[in-house]
Amino acid sequence: MQTQSFKVAIIPGDGIGKEVTAEAVKVVEAVGKRFGRTFELEHLPWSADYYLETGVTIPPNGYDTLRGFDAIFIGALGDPRVPDNRHARDILLGTRFELDLYVNYRPVKLLHERLCPLKGRTPKDIDFTVFRENTEGVYVGIGGRFKPGTDEEVATQEEINTYRGVHRIIRYAFEFAAARGLSRVCMADKSNAMTHGHALWQRVFKEVAAQFPSIQATHYYIDALAMYMVLDPAQFQVIVTNNLFGDIITDLAATFQGGLGMAASGNIHPGRTSMFEPVHGSAPKFAGKNIANPVGAISSAALMLETLGLRDEAATVDQAVAAAVVAGECTIDVGGKLGTTEAGDAIIRRLAPL
Ligand SMILES: NC(=O)c1ccc[n+]([C@@H]2O[C@H](COP(=O)([O-])OP(=O)(O)OC[C@H]3O[C@@H](n4cnc5c(N)ncnc54)[C@H](O)[C@@H]3O)[C@@H](O)[C@H]2O)c1
Repeated sequence: MQTQSFKVAIIPGDGIGKEVTAEAVKVVEAVGKRFGRTFELEHLPWSADYYLETGVTIPPNGYDTLRGFDAIFIGALGDPRVPDNRHARDILLGTRFELDLYVNYRPVKLLHERLCPLKGRTPKDIDFTVFRENTEGVYVGIGGRFKPGTDEEVATQEEINTYRGVHRIIRYAFEFAAARGLSRVCMADKSNAMTHGHALWQRVFKEVAAQFPSIQATHYYIDALAMYMVLDPAQFQVIVTNNLFGDIITDLAATFQGGLGMAASGNIHPGRTSMFEPVHGSAPKFAGKNIANPVGAISSAALMLETLGLRDEAATVDQAVAAAVVAGECTIDVGGKLGTTEAGDAIIRRLAPL
């Protein structure tokens, strides 16, 4: 039987992260009330402020603490007072690695044509999902600097690709497509230049694709993919790629939806505690001004509900977000006149009654 009560860790973080998280929390509580679900939301203070006050980025038992929740929600991390962003690295990247959240799930959906900078594109042209490998690639931090700061400096940064890591993200992308009745999965790599690591992606993609004969498996080099995303986004249903390329193309894809303020993400390990966060950062210039768009955060909360098995609740939030944005009851970055708080309220007003 499905659990009725869910324990969620809330890490608002820095800058606009705090403001958009407040709106996501309001929506989760409102939808919970409507559907009779209880969310025990525990706010964790881990942030730049906390680091500057205590010298601690994440407490020694921090990752174990996080494992004790059903889900984790993060606003955004990054603060100019912490130039090396070590707190963000420990909290965000640390959680991805320590909890082995290997699926970075980033849906890209245009809600209204006025939001898309591509000429003549409508919501039917832009509706795809990017799966970014989230635990390997160049983000593992293997490398070093020899003679740093001199004219003879040598810097290396290794990209890690393992059979297990590549296989599980590609398999997840195909399973996702199959479960939703989708017919196309596209893998993007740079195997023409990165002939070792990305040869592994080629091999595994072919191997997994053979197990899903009803799904058309296509491949683009990442540079060509960037071009086709702009020229013909309607051809994509599911894109799977590595950590670095996924990071880059999802910012590009966010612009199709109306900008970074609109984009949502989940960091998932199926069956385990997963983490949800808007794609954007802490936008320090916008912080404290009640102008940040809360949609990316609220849609990330909807992904959290979906992953917790609360499909109707997630769909209700998605519908309310779409209705508010289409009606222009949204923040200025997407053509509205509302502040962050008021945009959150406009979404809550549209949560369909039972
Ligand atoms: N996941 C994360 O927590 C994350 C992601 C990216 C960047 N960062 C960090 O955030 C800090 C700022 O980075 P940045 O300026 O490169 O990226 P950013 O995403 O914070 O902001 C870039 C620009 O995007 C727009 N934008 C972003 N979020 C918006 C929102 N909710 N509503 C409206 N407009 C929005 C703004 O124009 C902003 O200037 C840095 O410290 C960076 O390391 C954190």
